Amino acid sequence: MKVWHEVDSWQAARRSLPSGATIGFVPTMGALHEGHRALLERAREENAVVVLSLFVNPTQFDDPADLEKYPRTLEADLRLVRGVADHVLVPTAGQLYPDEYRYRVTETKDSRELEGAHRPGHFDGVLTVVLKLLNLVQPRRAYFGEKDWQQLQLVRGMVRAFFLPVEIVACRTVREADGLAMSSRNRRLSPAGRAQAAEFPRILRETPDAGDARRALEAAGFSVDYVVDSDGARLAAVRLEKVRLIDHVRR
Ligand code: PAF
Repeated sequence: MKVWHEVDSWQAARRSLPSGATIGFVPTMGALHEGHRALLERAREENAVVVLSLFVNPTQFDDPADLEKYPRTLEADLRLVRGVADHVLVPTAGQLYPDEYRYRVTETKDSRELEGAHRPGHFDGVLTVVLKLLNLVQPRRAYFGEKDWQQLQLVRGMVRAFFLPVEIVACRTVREADGLAMSSRNRRLSPAGRAQAAEFPRILRETPDAGDARRALEAAGFSVDYVVDSDGARLAAVRLEKVRLIDHVRR
């Protein structure tokens, strides 16, 4: 497994990969868990070469405190992916944003709803960094989790809009034993908060409509950003102990 900190060195290595080798790419912000590992394992099964990126992307954080608190666990991340990733990109913000974010990708409709309504500019940052990474890696396939449903749809839309030669592969959400979707943010909850967080997916699954779900979540102590039913699924974002949790549950 090779770790690349410099974009130039990675680009030279990328050019020297056999031209027919299919590349599977998993973009992440690090603080990896079993959900990320499942994306990598799927990439491993379907491609000759697996590339992972670890980059806490500053442009997708609307709240500087949230960016500051985002867990950075490089050594543990590298241990978790040894044997499953071939190349790991760990660029700095200076390496990925030589333009200082003067150039960016903006989607003007769906990105303004749900997550976008609560986190202004979030999806501009996500789409911009994903485009940069796809251009650097040039994968045949890129893997995204369904938990971040809106992100997945917007990345797919960008790929169609700009004719990017990549297949976006959606992977089912991996959950803890009590049903909570795995997320790097879960580790910021206190033990009591973590126990309470298991109510989030349970209420989303068990309440008949979005209004009932909102009321039940509020009664259980969550502050609710949104709950919507869409295309046979329920999407929601809540805050608990100042930690933002999102989920996407099929119904
Ligand atoms: O889902 C994430 O971890 C991030 O939004 C992504 C896709 C790696 C872009 O920074």
